[in-house]
Amino acid sequence: MNILVVGSGGREHALAWAISASPLCDALYCAPGNGGIATVAECVNISGDDIDGLVAFCGEKAIDFVVIGPEQPLVDGLADRLRAEGIDCFGPSAGAAQLEGSKGFTKDICAKYNIPTAAYGRFADAASAKAYVEEQGAPIVVKADGLAAGKGVIMAESNEQALTAIDESFSGKFGDAGAEVVIEEWLRGEEISFFALCDGDNALPLASAQDHKRVGEGDTGLNTGGMGAYSPAPIMTDALAEQVMDEIIKPTVAAMKAEGMPYQGVFFAGLMITDTGPSLIEYNVRFGDPECQVLMMRLKSDVLPALMACKDGGLAHLDLRWHDAAAMTVVMAADGYPGSYEKGSVIGNLDGAGASDDVKIFHAGTARDGETITAIGGRVLNVTGMGPDVQAARDAAYGAVEKVDWPQGFYRRDIGWRALQK
Ligand code: AMP
Ligand code: GLY
Repeated sequence: MNILVVGSGGREHALAWAISASPLCDALYCAPGNGGIATVAECVNISGDDIDGLVAFCGEKAIDFVVIGPEQPLVDGLADRLRAEGIDCFGPSAGAAQLEGSKGFTKDICAKYNIPTAAYGRFADAASAKAYVEEQGAPIVVKADGLAAGKGVIMAESNEQALTAIDESFSGKFGDAGAEVVIEEWLRGEEISFFALCDGDNALPLASAQDHKRVGEGDTGLNTGGMGAYSPAPIMTDALAEQVMDEIIKPTVAAMKAEGMPYQGVFFAGLMITDTGPSLIEYNVRFGDPECQVLMMRLKSDVLPALMACKDGGLAHLDLRWHDAAAMTVVMAADGYPGSYEKGSVIGNLDGAGASDDVKIFHAGTARDGETITAIGGRVLNVTGMGPDVQAARDAAYGAVEKVDWPQGFYRRDIGWRALQK
């Protein structure tokens, strides 16, 4: 089969790497890809937003299956277009991708179908949003409704902060994404992620994985896309996973089907484990990045049939096998990230650092010129280790990180600290 992966991050490198190992894969392309993906796929210079360009490329290369990595093309309707052209793909329709593309949509689904989530209000003007804040009182959470690159959530400790956040959102701070806001109860508890494949009717939970969102050690500082991840996540016990499936994932599958938007793809649920059980914070309609990297390291089964099974009840008879070993990935980012950073520094000794069998270096923001790899993004490398337990995976990952020659980069030294404490 001819396969196209859409995206350019570490997530797409991990997906392309796993797909390239499938006996079903004859030719593998990635649009636009990056310096690392170029070692497992042919990178083609088409952006994920260029839906017409991607569809035309699929025709040209007789692509049989497209794996869509990031959320934006899904929200923009890439999966719908491909399916309309008769091209199979992994990822939800634009309708179903509203689960990530509109926080208000997801909250309304939760309310209608009794899925546990924080109490909320949904507002299209500042005055009624402010009235709700005055009535409920801080602490409270103000969210831009649409995709805001992870910046649209304001945790307000005081009413003043919440009112300012509302003004900012309605005055265009988050562009169109902030033209509507969701205001919700501030949930307390431990936050965890949950992943499950879905074919429209059935959901299949994946191995557990957890990232670290904050830029600083001890989970402090600004939010990022994720500074590292590990799998398994000890907090996700079998009993808790079953509860999440029964109370959150399965009701969402049924809800989306009932709404005429059956969900096909991967659910990435952000959850708060509260005193009264798991509560949904948000859905993402794609794999987590860098969570995907540790999941792909641990997946023993062929990934391609699993992705292809995410349609028409195909998951009913699918079973995935996982390595017992643990995996950890450490993100190396450009100095300054998540603020502004320089591009173009050269990264050395990647072959040396990645030489060991228990290490795999996935690329995120890199470009390749012959053998030279340069940093061109904020999150640049995902140095991933495996071992019999999280501690051993950590040792493998950090052993490799220390060998990477890149003075313009930094990384957190405490990835996995919660898991290691348990
Ligand atoms: P989201 O983009 O909705 O995932 O929000 C980003 C982060 O804000 C989450 O990962 C949580 O840490 C936090 N957050 C969002 N909503 C809530 C809430 N209702 N209660 C507590 N924390 C929240
Ligand atoms: N690592 C979090 C995310 O992909 O959104």
